[in-house]
Amino acid sequence: MDEKTLSLLEDAAKKAAEKAYCPYSGYRVGAAVLAGSGKIYDGCNIENASYSLTMCAERTALFKAVSAGEREILAVCVYSDGGKLPYPCGACRQALSEFCNDAQITVTDGKERVTALLSELLPQCFR
Ligand code: THU
Repeated sequence: MDEKTLSLLEDAAKKAAEKAYCPYSGYRVGAAVLAGSGKIYDGCNIENASYSLTMCAERTALFKAVSAGEREILAVCVYSDGGKLPYPCGACRQALSEFCNDAQITVTDGKERVTALLSELLPQCFR
């Protein structure tokens, strides 16, 4: 992925974090996925008083893309400036694997940026 596209993805993830609904954790997360069509879909974490119903930013963005008709995710960026780099949780890694043929995953807090392949974050995944 070229630097310009990654920069667009990062901007979208950062902007999405502003929309986070996180009254319980206070931890804002934004995500953006680059779909096969070339479109970018964003999402934020959405918490719930019944904690286990909380939805992560990555899956919000992924499900928005899939429900818009996308079937391939090429790259993902996750943003949070809440204190530690926002590596996707195990559930999000598995959910992404359904639609990723080894996508590039970038995590950033706006200062530091780390990129890895999904296969590195989720080796030998169930498919
Ligand atoms: N969260 C995400 O949005 N993505 C992850 O991959 C891990 C956790 C959110 C869920 C919850 O709203 C907050 O971070 C604290 O766990």
